[in-house]
Amino acid sequence: MNPSTTTTQTPLSIATGPAGRAVAEPMSVEMLDMMQAHLNMERQSSAAYFAAAVWFAERELVGFANHFRDEAKQEQEHSAKFADYLISRGQTVELDTLEPPCQTWTGVEDVVANVFLMEADVTTSVLQLYATAERLNDVRSTVFLDGVIDEQRLSEHEAAYLLGRVKFAAGQPAALLIIDAELREGEAKPASLQG
Ligand SMILES: [Fe+2]
Repeated sequence: MNPSTTTTQTPLSIATGPAGRAVAEPMSVEMLDMMQAHLNMERQSSAAYFAAAVWFAERELVGFANHFRDEAKQEQEHSAKFADYLISRGQTVELDTLEPPCQTWTGVEDVVANVFLMEADVTTSVLQLYATAERLNDVRSTVFLDGVIDEQRLSEHEAAYLLGRVKFAAGQPAALLIIDAELREGEAKPASLQG
């Protein structure tokens, strides 16, 4: 008989999270609560974008509707990214009840201005997460958030671009239809000076 099979081994003691997954490094309650809140903020943003897509679809502005539909999907992906991260850290994901999104706007500029402010709020939330992760020396989280923050900056950049174009149109239907066509063709992008 192989001696190794007869040796009695003490089971290794490995910390586990709420779902029983192995945890390499525990997460602080503060960090965890903030991550959960942010994940739900991304879901709420998705609902807000979908409401905007509906508003434009009802007004025959197909390019805007498609653009905001895609943004709604992207926000779902962002929340999924946070869910994947929490699970990778051995944590569970708590899904909150979403608020009914705003569906009443005074016009195109009002919708786009609110979208820009929403993106700015999401950025603030991510930056607070980053600052907390740094303070708590949670390096796994700072590394994870690095990519998220830069992606978020680009979302602000794109929202600012669209707001600028819409402001320039000054409510003129012909100009708004040009922007709508650009969005429909996926050509509504900020300038790039890098060639
Ligand atoms: Fe997002």
